Amino acid sequence: MPQIEAASPHVMNTYGRLPIALSHGRGVRVWDVNGKEYLDALGGIAVNTLGHGHPRLVPALQDQVARMIHCSNYYHVPLQEQLAAKLVELSGLTNAFFCSTGLEANEAALKLARKYGHDKGITNPKVVVYEKAFHGRSIATLSATGNPKVQVGFGPLVEGFIRVPLNDIEALKTATEGDKDVVAVFFEAIQGEGGVNPMQLAYMRQVRALCDERGWLMMIDEVQCGMGRTGKWFAHQWAGIKPDVMPLAKGLGSGVPVGAVVAGPKAANIFQPGNHGTTFGGNPLAMRAGVETIRIMEEDGLLQNAERVGAHLKAAFEKAFAGNPGVKEIRGQGLMLGIELAKPCGVLVQRAADAGLLLSVTADSVVRMVPALILTQAEADEIVALLVPLIQAFLAE
Ligand SMILES: Cc1ncc(COP(=O)(O)O)c(C=O)c1O
Repeated sequence: MPQIEAASPHVMNTYGRLPIALSHGRGVRVWDVNGKEYLDALGGIAVNTLGHGHPRLVPALQDQVARMIHCSNYYHVPLQEQLAAKLVELSGLTNAFFCSTGLEANEAALKLARKYGHDKGITNPKVVVYEKAFHGRSIATLSATGNPKVQVGFGPLVEGFIRVPLNDIEALKTATEGDKDVVAVFFEAIQGEGGVNPMQLAYMRQVRALCDERGWLMMIDEVQCGMGRTGKWFAHQWAGIKPDVMPLAKGLGSGVPVGAVVAGPKAANIFQPGNHGTTFGGNPLAMRAGVETIRIMEEDGLLQNAERVGAHLKAAFEKAFAGNPGVKEIRGQGLMLGIELAKPCGVLVQRAADAGLLLSVTADSVVRMVPALILTQAEADEIVALLVPLIQAFLAE
């Protein structure tokens, strides 16, 4: 059996990795190179929408690999039109741009916001962003991110951001008062890396109204919370609003890298030929992955499943930890759940893996679960049975 090195000599040291190497998966289960089995509550960090080795996704991707993996955007790509039409239908917006990752989708959103401003004669456009936000690790998206750990060592940061606290409409009004350079408000409907922090539905409606009143773009980063995870296609839809710009990635291709920016009428025609592009964005393999992922989600009712199984999971944790002062809050919706503990709990990642459960800890003290949307109630019960005793023992230390 291959031995796993504690440190890789050749891969850059960008992640604090566990001493585990995964070899293959089926559904929500994965196996490491030594044959140990795990229940995967992390889903590649909200990426593996259909789990691993899905019996209808795999043959579709095999077919596409044999036909064409990539072609240039110098030509029309019919599958782009197909995926764009589907995203337009699901979002109520009008046009999509395709890229490959979340940060790229957010970069495109930020460029849209700046050009929206420039087109109106605003030469120093500013975008409102949030405390604890995470938008990616490019220079612009790490500047928009609200976590100093992500930014340290990479200054000078990109300017043109105004940072505000979550769910406080007065703070947003005060921070932007009389500022004619503001062009957009940019937030995650449920913050993922920041600790599974939902924007309140009433707050999102207030921001929508303010954006309409002031002529700002409302830009909602649905990279982690979107694509059915909360039980609606996009988490902001629970508030009954529509953004002007919506970056997507992660779950859109069920593991194949796909990113998108979906825009409504206010933002759909800002980019003109030459303003933006990316070599890999919208290639036939990525587009097929998106089209087939959404098709299977619809055929199998995975939104309803995410809502139902997620509610079951949350209720089970609430019951197990009722009255436990070591558990501060259980947050999230559908299959995006966070359990905030009263102390930092990074050690739980390895302990859970030892017990056969993959998950992550974010914002130091939040146990986060973002499993595949095919998770069954019985599998959710297994997660609870594995995790509750681990947390209880940890809190008793
Ligand atoms: C909300 C959000 N936006 C953007 C990103 C960046 O995506 P990527 O890692 O694909 O660049 C992430 C990644 O965790 C995210 O959670």
